[in-house]
Amino acid sequence: MRRRMRLRRDASLTLLLGTALGFLLYAQRDGAAPTTSAPPARVRAAPRPTSGPRAFQVPDAGAALPAYEEDIPAPPTPTGPFDFGRYLRAKDQRRFPLLINQPHKCRGDGAPGGRPDLLIAVKSVAADFERRQAVRQTWGAEGRVQGALVRRVFLLGVPRGAGTDAADGEGAGTRTHWRALLGAESRAFADILLWAFDDTFFNLTLKEIHFLAWASAFCPDVRFVFKGDADVFVHVGNLLEFLAPRDPGQDLLAGDVIIHARPIRTRASKYYIPEAVYGLPSYPAYAGGGGFVLSGATLRRLTRACAQVELFPIDDVFLGMCLQRLRLTPEPHPAFRTFGISQPSAAPHLRTFDPCFYRELVVVHGLSAADIWLMWRLLNGPHGPACAHSQPVAAGPFQWDS
Ligand SMILES: *[C@@H]1O[C@H](CO)[C@@H](O)[C@H](O)[C@H]1NC(C)=O
Repeated sequence: MRRRMRLRRDASLTLLLGTALGFLLYAQRDGAAPTTSAPPARVRAAPRPTSGPRAFQVPDAGAALPAYEEDIPAPPTPTGPFDFGRYLRAKDQRRFPLLINQPHKCRGDGAPGGRPDLLIAVKSVAADFERRQAVRQTWGAEGRVQGALVRRVFLLGVPRGAGTDAADGEGAGTRTHWRALLGAESRAFADILLWAFDDTFFNLTLKEIHFLAWASAFCPDVRFVFKGDADVFVHVGNLLEFLAPRDPGQDLLAGDVIIHARPIRTRASKYYIPEAVYGLPSYPAYAGGGGFVLSGATLRRLTRACAQVELFPIDDVFLGMCLQRLRLTPEPHPAFRTFGISQPSAAPHLRTFDPCFYRELVVVHGLSAADIWLMWRLLNGPHGPACAHSQPVAAGPFQWDS
């Protein structure tokens, strides 16, 4: 058993290195594409920002991370102790201008079948061009998937340190630099939405409400919306199968649902919430922000509901508060794995390189650009994955050891 494990690990490592190399070669070949040069990360990537306050499953901070952690995007992560006073004073300002829009995204520009069946919205940050590229060319590709029309947008704010009030010359230079790059990227791919707020971890709630408002305004007839992070792998085929029998006119919000999560009262935690900010013992049920799907009807109702809810610095909990206002309960789906894949142990890491594992899931969280590429190639290769089960078993309970 152990020997088999070791063999599998060796095989997986070889596969990983091979793919990384292939990826590098690919990136070079594709050098003509516009690149957003990543400013050097000032802070080391903290563990998953979107893992949410799963009070009963706090990730083991000291444990070893997989070897490819360099690829985890640094922003948006909190850079220091969170200033709640400032947040409370500023939170009435919740409307920011849209700097880059895609007004035709859902109109199809006169093409037949303009209204998308599925809009994919991916939270991203300016520096993370590489992951956007991976998403664009793998699971986030636009067009017809199993007959359904799929469209894609990336959701961005202003990178930290590139503020609009740059007094010093260096700041102004950086500002024009990233604006020009994002402008070029938007012209090349027509999938960038950029708002004028700082792209920070605690501003993800602003990203949420601005996206909801944007989608309601510019994509009012969309049937379903998937919203997630750039480091997820989404099996769009499985997602569409799940959605096929659902009515977009009915309420639906499905994902990795967390219930009775307790607010974290430890000051040192990234998710620390003082009682003065949230006094109740537990949060409303919410879907992990790594990836969830909602119907067009719920999109429109949520947009209105969220406009009434006071901003809360954790975006997925905030969305749970909006749902609660609508008396809606998010629907748990076992194939949405927005947590757990980045478990700090070798075996689960191996598991993330089993294409059959992905074949049975809808959303997997915590992946590098190279992982996303690898999974896509393996799942969509000429022979398809050689799996132990001939049928996907998406609904089955997940186990690390089989
Ligand atoms: C959110 O963005 C606004 C506008 O850019 C900024 O003033 C504020 O400091 C940001 N808030 C946080 C918590 O990062």
